[in-house]
Amino acid sequence: MSKVVWPGSTLLSPVPPVLVSCGSAERPNAITIAWTGILNSHPPMTYISVRPERFSHGLIKARGEFIIHLPTAPMARAIDYCGCRSGREEDKFSSMGFTPYRVEGFDCPAIDEFPIALACRVTDTAVLGCHEMFLAEIKRVLVDDRLLNPDGKLCIERAELMAYAHGQYFRLGESLGSFGFSVKKPRKKGRG
Ligand SMILES: Cc1cc2nc3c(=O)[nH]c(=O)nc-3n(C[C@H](O)[C@H](O)[C@H](O)COP(=O)(O)O)c2cc1C
Repeated sequence: MSKVVWPGSTLLSPVPPVLVSCGSAERPNAITIAWTGILNSHPPMTYISVRPERFSHGLIKARGEFIIHLPTAPMARAIDYCGCRSGREEDKFSSMGFTPYRVEGFDCPAIDEFPIALACRVTDTAVLGCHEMFLAEIKRVLVDDRLLNPDGKLCIERAELMAYAHGQYFRLGESLGSFGFSVKKPRKKGRG
């Protein structure tokens, strides 16, 4: 296969276009962030990279906390909107009709319309160039109980998660297998 070679860029795809809430219960804000990921398992750590000119940047810097909402297909419009309008000019919680709810130990509210949220406390920051990275510990995970089966197991496929790749939003497709499927031994036929 022959390849064209381009200069370095941010083409890593897909990434989750998460909706991040920040600010206070009285004056919450929501910003869409695609530059995010998991940094560590124990303790669970994540990061978000935010340009200093964003209204949310000052809110997160001042309060040291934010809440990540996993992106879902039904919320695609709200996710795009919160990434195109600034909280400096409008209250995005009311324009999007978000229902805020309180998370214990956090000032900024989470958004009920999103079924999975990660409440994070900033532990470190790094200015990398045009973005500042906020490293954070995931202190709480909020999961809509409609995503749980009767045994309490998370059925993530019910969340209708979505992805972002090269400027486009995509609905996730069907499962290709679960962790370890490639090395799983075939089941021996039962003894009857
Ligand atoms: C899909 C998508 C992904 C985005 N990812 C980022 C990001 O990772 N970091 C960032 O600083 N801005 C990102 N933005 C831009 C901000 O969400 C946007 O500037 C927003 O209006 C800022 O809101 P605020 O001023 O209320 O904080 C993204 C926008 C979209 C639509």
